[in-house]
Parts: sequence; C-alpha cells; structure tokens
Amino acid sequence: MNSSTPKKEELQPFANPRGTQDILPDQQKYWEYVVETTKSVLQGWNFQRVDTPIFEETALFQRGVGQETDIVSKELFELKPRGGSQYALRPEGTAPMARAYIQHGMRSWPHPVKLFYIGSFFRYDRPQKGRFRQLHQYGVEVFGSNAPITDAQIIYVNHVLFKALGLEDYVVHINSLGEPGERATYIKLLKEHYRRNRQKLCKDCKERITTNPLRVLDCKEEKCQQVSNTAPRLLDHLSETSKQHFESVLSILDDLKIPYEIKPSLVRGLDYYTHTVWEFMPKNVVEGGSQSALSGGGRYNGLLKALGGKDTPGVGFAGGIERLIDRLKEEGVELSVADKPLVFVAQLGARAKKEALTILSRLQEAQIPFSESLDRDGMQAQLRMADRFGVKWALIIGHKEVLDKSIIFRNMESGMQEVVPQESMVAELQKRLSLAG
Ligand code: HAM
Repeated sequence: MNSSTPKKEELQPFANPRGTQDILPDQQKYWEYVVETTKSVLQGWNFQRVDTPIFEETALFQRGVGQETDIVSKELFELKPRGGSQYALRPEGTAPMARAYIQHGMRSWPHPVKLFYIGSFFRYDRPQKGRFRQLHQYGVEVFGSNAPITDAQIIYVNHVLFKALGLEDYVVHINSLGEPGERATYIKLLKEHYRRNRQKLCKDCKERITTNPLRVLDCKEEKCQQVSNTAPRLLDHLSETSKQHFESVLSILDDLKIPYEIKPSLVRGLDYYTHTVWEFMPKNVVEGGSQSALSGGGRYNGLLKALGGKDTPGVGFAGGIERLIDRLKEEGVELSVADKPLVFVAQLGARAKKEALTILSRLQEAQIPFSESLDRDGMQAQLRMADRFGVKWALIIGHKEVLDKSIIFRNMESGMQEVVPQESMVAELQKRLSLAG
C-alpha cells in the first residue's frame, strides 16, 4: 500500500447532504402517484408545462422575490462559477416563470397564459420535518388576468388536485395584502405598534421591524404572536377596490364549497404578493405530523413590471411534494399504482435465457409488471425468488419450450403447471390476472 492511501478503517462512507434525501425504490410509487396525478389534473385544466433551469442570475431572485425575504437573504444557494457571473440555485418558481414569460414574448399568446411546472428547488434552511434543502414543488402561474374569478379558479384547481390525490383533511387560510400603496400606510402603523412592544419580540423580529415588519405577523414564536394579536389589521386598511376583489374571491369559494378561514396574519414570505394570498393547511394533524402548509400562493400584480416586463397581472401557487407525500401517508390514502411484479419469468438453459428476453419484452409492451433473474441457472433458486416476490404466476421456459414456441404457466399457490402457446401468453395472462385481481 502506498503511504498516501488511507488505511481501510479510516475510509468513512459518504452520506447524502443534510436536508436532502435519496428517494429509494419503495418510495418511488408515492412520487409517481403525486407527479402523475398532478400532471393529469393540471393538463386537464389546460395548463401548459414549462421547465426552467435550476439556476438563474442571483439578481432575478433579489429583484423578483425580494432582497429582504428569508429565502433570498438567508437561504439562497449561491454559485460562484468562473467568469464572475452571479448565479443561484432557484429557491422558488414564480420569478423564473415570470422571466420566461417576458423573455419568450408570451404576451402575444392568447390570455390568460396558464403555465405549470414540477421540479427541484433549493433553500438553505434549517432541516426539520417537512423542511428540506432540496425540495420538490409543483406549481402553476397564470399571467394576464386581474379578475377575482382567476384567483378562485386556481384555488379550486388546487382543491380538485388534492381531492384527486385522495386528501380530505385540509383548510385554506386566506388573506388580502391589497396594493403596495395601501400596504405602505399600513406598514407605518404596524411599525409603530411593534416599536412600542419591541422588548417583547424575539431577536429576529426586532430586526424585522425595520427590514420586513409584515413578517413579524406570521412569526411562530409565542411571544411575537401575542404582540401581533393586538396589531392593526391590514384588512381594515384596504381600499374599496381591494376589499371588493377579496370579497368576490371569497364569495366564489363559498359557492364552490371550498373550506377556508380568513387569517389576517397571513402575509407569506415573498415580497411580490398583492391582493389575495392563501395556504392550504393540513387539519387534524396526528402527533408528530407537520403543521406546515401543503401549498401556498397568491396574486403578484407588480412582479412582471419589476422584472422589466410590461405591467401584467399574475397569480399562482406551488405545493410541496415531500409534504404531500407525508400527508398522504398520515391520511392513510391507498395508492392506485402497481409497484409489485405480477409474474416471474424463469428459464433453463442458454437458448431459453435468450428467448426469455423476447418474453420479457412482450410483457413490458403489454404493461404486465414482471420480475426475472436471468443470471441464475437453477430452477429451484428461481422459483424461490418468485415466491419472495409473492407473484401468483411463474412463466417457465426451457429448451423444449423454445423449440415448441410454448411456455409453462406455473400457479405458485397450487404448484399446478400447464403449457400455453407463446402467441397466446399475453391474452392468457391478462385473463388470469384480472380473474385473480
Ligand atoms: P412557498 O410558500 O415558499 O411559495 O412554497 C410553496 C410550498 O412549497 C410550501 O407550501 C411547501 O409545501 C413547499 N415548501 C417550501 N419550502 C419547503 C422546504 N424547505 N421543504 C419542503 N417543502 C417546502 C412559493 O414558493 C411561491 N413561488 C408559490 C407561488 C407560486 N406563489 C405564486 N405563485
């Protein structure tokens, strides 16, 4: 051994970075279920998919999401590539989608433009239950409509999606942030209130009085919440137009029977919001379950202009796939995805091994989930594997079957075997599997 090679016992195995996870085979069915259901519902509602890069210019997030927001000021994964450009891994999808809308001239598309995305996002937050550093979101963004019906429509789409996933126990927390002008007057009052009570606030909130006083409203610290309970309410300081917009949204939600609660303290953590903001919250959380939002969104009428586009209204939401999967498990939702093989293909002899590949290909085309072990030679060892997979049928092919173009169906419960012509294998299996199912 060369002197620079570490001794064997010194080698530490690697682990995935904190706040990320390996999605192992037994979890894949949940991911597939959520991603496929989401795609099917959103495409069904005529949203079009856009994939943007996972990194963007840092300035996009500073200008779009806000320099003082937590996800930009504290949690941004900044990249330092050669050449001096400043890039960051995307912490969210709205600013990149707005960038894409402007860049690709979507203003000339029929309006409103309804887009969706599914992908990875990155936030250097303190990892805890339901809070990852690499997280996955699905999201929708609608550009070009300022009508309350559009806010209500996409809240409804999120509701329909949750129903399609089989979720029952959730409620929409909703609030209005009005226009920036209205907010400015309100923020003055809010600052005065917090300054008077400064001593009672946590360290972060003391700072937020100057940087982002709205964020004090949704601080989770008990002592800050007490001070916020007596704070002036933004809803009481909205203009007539803003109030009317909010009331129209609520009245449509009433008609659609979507369960909601008005939460005057809901401000959301991103600076681009105007008017309606909301979060889908889990209800009746079991012990150890997460209380965090399953999805959240709102209107952002000033974002496109702030990013150099024409003044175009927008509204959207995004949901966390990790949190949805946790919630599906908590609610005990049964998945309709087949994740287990239904048949096992066993082979004996060199020619049969090759023929088995054609058999497997036909099973895959017929979408019959299978398992096999082509590198094993003994029949007993293969049948033991078939047993471990719990399949009802083993399909056996040996030298004779290769010559006859037949295959043996072995019922793994009874041990009974019968010979079936290969050409009717798929039809016979479909008959038996649906009989069995
Ligand atoms: P957000 O509330 O920051 O909004 O994130 C949306 C959802 O992503 C959350 O409700 C949560 O389910 C999930 N999420 C956020 N952070 C984490 C994390 N660290 N780990 C796991 N899941 C997480 C946005 O991102 C906005 N862009 C939504 C939007 C779209 N607003 C308008 N259009």
